[in-house]
Amino acid sequence: MATNRTFTMLKPDAVEKGHIGAILEKINTAGFRIVAMKLTQMTTADAQAFYAIHKERPFFPDLVEYMTRGPIVAAILEKDNAVEDFRTLIGATNPADAAEGTIRKLYAASIGENAVHGSDSDENAAIEGAFHFAGRDMF
Ligand code: CMP
Repeated sequence: MATNRTFTMLKPDAVEKGHIGAILEKINTAGFRIVAMKLTQMTTADAQAFYAIHKERPFFPDLVEYMTRGPIVAAILEKDNAVEDFRTLIGATNPADAAEGTIRKLYAASIGENAVHGSDSDENAAIEGAFHFAGRDMF
């Protein structure tokens, strides 16, 4: 397994409910190194661009409204097998299907408001990380 990187967002629902600390604790305990991190708020144009792959989906307007309604924590994380291991840590997209102990099982309310994002491939991790961070912000 190569050391590699993934990108995550702690979404507005997780921030609103005060779960930043608990989720970061799980991320640290699982062995991820924080490469970059910030509290930020996406604009409508940001969210439309970030989720462009979903623009034809019926949930797209709700997704953009949700992701722009308040601050998020954006971060790049590093670990062996980062993309796959992080998706295991966060659990299934729908928290109803998420395994016990996963971040979504613990902190997500619904498939739409699912607390946390994790990249689905090394290629998308690089694209999504670069969307939020300049090279000088990565350590
Ligand atoms: P994520 O997988 O991080 O990125 C796409 C997001 O779209 C997903 O999390 C959910 O927040 C949202 N999403 C995916 N599927 C649905 C759905 N069926 N209904 C509403 N929102 C969804």
